[in-house]
Amino acid sequence: MATEESLCQQNGGQVKNVGHREVSPKPSNDRLHPIQTLLEKSREWHCQLTDVAFAKRLDAEDPLHHLRNLFHYPKKCDLPDIDRSLMSDDDEESVYLCGNSLGLMPKSTADLVNRELVKWSKLGVYGHKHGELPWQQCDEFLVDQMAPLVGAQTNEVALMNGLTVNEHLLLISFYQPTNERHKILIEDHAFPSDHYCVESQIRLRGFHPATSLLLITPRQGEENIRTEDILQKIEEEGNSIAVILLPGVQYFTGQVFDMAAITKAGQAKGCFVGFDLAHAVGNIELFMHDWNVDFACWCSYKYMSSGAGGMAGIFIHERYTHADLPKLTGWWGHRLETRFHMDNKLDLVPGPLGYRLSNPSGLLAAALKGSLEVFDKTSVAELRNKSKLLTAYLEHLLLHYYAEPEVGSSSAADERSRTKASVKIITPTDPDERGCQLSVRFSLPIAQVFKELTQSGVVLDRREPNVLRVAPLPMYNSFEDVHRFISHLNNAFKRLQSKADN
Ligand SMILES: Cc1ncc(COP(=O)(O)O)c(C=O)c1O
Repeated sequence: MATEESLCQQNGGQVKNVGHREVSPKPSNDRLHPIQTLLEKSREWHCQLTDVAFAKRLDAEDPLHHLRNLFHYPKKCDLPDIDRSLMSDDDEESVYLCGNSLGLMPKSTADLVNRELVKWSKLGVYGHKHGELPWQQCDEFLVDQMAPLVGAQTNEVALMNGLTVNEHLLLISFYQPTNERHKILIEDHAFPSDHYCVESQIRLRGFHPATSLLLITPRQGEENIRTEDILQKIEEEGNSIAVILLPGVQYFTGQVFDMAAITKAGQAKGCFVGFDLAHAVGNIELFMHDWNVDFACWCSYKYMSSGAGGMAGIFIHERYTHADLPKLTGWWGHRLETRFHMDNKLDLVPGPLGYRLSNPSGLLAAALKGSLEVFDKTSVAELRNKSKLLTAYLEHLLLHYYAEPEVGSSSAADERSRTKASVKIITPTDPDERGCQLSVRFSLPIAQVFKELTQSGVVLDRREPNVLRVAPLPMYNSFEDVHRFISHLNNAFKRLQSKADN
């Protein structure tokens, strides 16, 4: 087995892994690359990175480790599709690496939601104005805590609806096509809901996706879209683009987009620039206001842990607070002071709060409060520091055991490893260009690998055609979780191998 040193040869601040994947050559600032940090600790502690003791020591030193206790962490015995013969005991925890899809439930949430139910049972309609979260303003009470998570001022955020609904509401305002400027630029592999939303908006305005939907793709043979290619596309086509709508973090690959550069380039060409932050909020640091982004939207059930279908959010830069943008309206965008005059004279709240259509759900607000209170106990900067280490640790272990053999190499060792299971990580290697998630392709059929992992109590998600998304969240995942994941993966591969041999 190769040593840690041979796996990561340090070279003047550069770190390279064996196999195809060069692990990020560029710590974008002067801080140590997370892999270098891990290797230094390994030397200092005289402990291999592959050793479970190393993972446990990292957890013992992790200043955020206590946050895990604020969440309900699923046990294997409660999960569907578990093979109980693979469990060590009834109390064994799962390996939950799926917070990028649905965040775990904070322990305080049940009580917070129940308090609203009790209030309803006792007060009925008076609940709108009374209690700790009066329903008629329950969304507004949460904006102060939400806004910093996207780097916004409080007058730039509203909480309402679901993500796709909000995306439509924002495009009603920001997509004003003309014959000269009618295109919407999205990525080729946008989340389907984003794609459908944009297509339908184009049709709704009398244009056709064939001529108005502009897709940007990675270069041939590459997985991620280079920033330089996005900027070039904007340069070339910007005069005909009405709106640029890209993700903050790409859902399939985990790539972080350079939101500041894209915004600057798009606006220089006269385009509105917006971002879908579904996979970015609670995952990476965001500066919507300072980056001068025009608009953004996000859901709160992934990294934000507000529960499935939780209250979503919008950002509209403050320079539009009093702009007369076209919009859909409802009674909840009306100022509270005059809302109940019922005189059909719209007295709209300026800014994003004026986009609210319907009265908010006190139950969803309480669930989001549960999550925001946990976020209040730390900061995205702290979470991000841990996240970079956690994901680099996962990357290192995956490559240690399963790096793809070098193309064209014909050493005996490589010949042997060619017959072994291998993985390809398609997420960018630079820690600044990715969040928590690694998207992984396997040399073995993905359905079989996924089934084996699921049966052994590893929770992650599979995205067609052939990717498993593995997301250790710094909020509640430990280094030991990552180590356990790798052990489960090793065992899954062994079982698959022995099934294939029989
Ligand atoms: C990137 C992205 N956009 C949009 C959506 C759709 O979200 P919703 O169902 O909350 O509208 C999702 C859901 O996972 C997503 O990941």
